[in-house]
Amino acid sequence: MLGVLGTTGLTAYFGMLDLGRPRPGDVVLVSGAAGATGSVAGQLARLAGARVIGTAGGPEKARWLTEVAGFDEAIDYRREDVETRIADLAPGGVDVFYDNVAGPMLQAGIANIAQRGTVVLCGGVSSGYSDEATPVGPTNLSTITVRSCQVKGFIVTDYVDQFDEAAQRLAAWVRSGELVSVDDVQRGGVEDAVDTMNRLFDGKNLGKQLLQIAELEV
Ligand SMILES: NC(=O)c1ccc[n+]([C@@H]2O[C@H](COP(=O)([O-])OP(=O)(O)OC[C@H]3O[C@@H](n4cnc5c(N)ncnc54)[C@H](OP(=O)(O)O)[C@@H]3O)[C@@H](O)[C@H]2O)c1
Repeated sequence: MLGVLGTTGLTAYFGMLDLGRPRPGDVVLVSGAAGATGSVAGQLARLAGARVIGTAGGPEKARWLTEVAGFDEAIDYRREDVETRIADLAPGGVDVFYDNVAGPMLQAGIANIAQRGTVVLCGGVSSGYSDEATPVGPTNLSTITVRSCQVKGFIVTDYVDQFDEAAQRLAAWVRSGELVSVDDVQRGGVEDAVDTMNRLFDGKNLGKQLLQIAELEV
């Protein structure tokens, strides 16, 4: 319930399948792809028959995306020019861009969006969600207009009445081995919650970030 069947898995499920709606053969781009939400979103797009490209920070995460999570391509945004790499990997454009990052990443995705493509705005982690670090961009919103695209924002609680059904479908994919999930469990006390949470903004986590504060005795 805290991992793939919890909030972030459900977010990926509704954001990708209800809003992104990838079709077989589509090119889907997911930013923040090695995180809890992005990793599930990308795999669901692959299960829908799309070709999936993920962006993540660092070679280990990029390798994990293609070798473990089944993404078709991975872009290490810390080392590569993201906009150029997307263009190389998707010369016909990106049909669905599922963005967790905002800022320059959103700009790069929009620059490569296909005619009548869809941009799903799941989150903007590059802002740090603080007043001090407002992300730059995108400055290319006119691309949305001239390519007749749709931009869709959402909050997972929009779908609260469908959570049970979604969790059952996610669980079935996990059981069949079609959906890989990884939990990044740190151990400590409640006083470690802030430092653990901040691992998200430093990109230290792979998959779902959790803090275990006690052993559960059943
Ligand atoms: N709309 C909703 O209802 C909803 C619900 C839940 C979560 N969300 C959003 O979903 C996104 C992912 O959340 P999560 O909880 O699953 O976290 P997560 O993806 O597991 O962790 C955040 C990841 O963001 C990446 N990141 C951090 N700073 C970055 C930067 N400046 N540029 C690019 N990437 C950066 C890091 O990976 P790298 O190593 O790749 O940098 C980090 O691992 C967030 O934007 C969150 O707000 C939305």
